[in-house]
Amino acid sequence: MTALRVEVWRGREDGRFQQFEVPREANQTVLDVVTYIQRRLDPTLAYRFACRVGMCGSCAMTVNGIARWTCRTHVAKVARDDRLEIAPLANLPVIKDLATDMREFFDKWAKARGRFAPTRTRADDFARVPPDTRERAAANAAIECIGCGVCYASCDIVSWNPDYLGPAALNRAWTLVSDVRDGERTERLRAVAGDAGCHACHTLMSCTERCPTHLSPTASIAGLKRATAAAALKGEL
Ligand code: SF4
Ligand code: SF4
Ligand code: FES
Repeated sequence: MTALRVEVWRGREDGRFQQFEVPREANQTVLDVVTYIQRRLDPTLAYRFACRVGMCGSCAMTVNGIARWTCRTHVAKVARDDRLEIAPLANLPVIKDLATDMREFFDKWAKARGRFAPTRTRADDFARVPPDTRERAAANAAIECIGCGVCYASCDIVSWNPDYLGPAALNRAWTLVSDVRDGERTERLRAVAGDAGCHACHTLMSCTERCPTHLSPTASIAGLKRATAAAALKGEL
């Protein structure tokens, strides 16, 4: 059986790579490799995962320099000469080893007003937005985000400007701006119109190229740019 040589980040930002040898298996994922190391070779290795099937978004790491969901990345697809390099997500503080602190990522969702603001109460009837309407298509376009942070870790503007709200929070804001049931459109446009908001995006596209759910935060941000410009012209911001 061949072995993989795996470089794994240990410690915090000032840490270093540590090498492990892991047996290769058929259909092995990068998350299987990390789990093997933690269970068989070094139980002090810190990492995060939950669902193992691409639904929770908690297993994202940097694999050979690219942010990915490790549970959905097969070793055969990414290993070069039986080598792998596994590091924590970029653009986020490291708690330990492969586990990053996601607080600032989700704080930015809150700053972008990424929470649905209902206009109806429990006593009202359901809002009906039929599946074949333009309104429904607009709200659906970017709704499948699972908050994994892959786009955020891949965005150079986040690296240069730590205040930038980033692709995931802006994508969420656009989903809500496009939702006819939401009652805070103007407040949300104000929240994303500032220096650290949608206009800071340079349309570099890495977020869209890397998003594992094939969303396009770039398109969502372009929508916010248009909507904030139109609202500013009408004197609403
Ligand atoms: S937009 Fe895609 S890459 Fe970004 S957090 Fe959502 S699912 Fe992850
Ligand atoms: S398109 Fe904008 S948000 Fe996406 S990676 Fe590029 S600069 Fe960042
Ligand atoms: S463990 Fe849930 S997405 Fe990978």
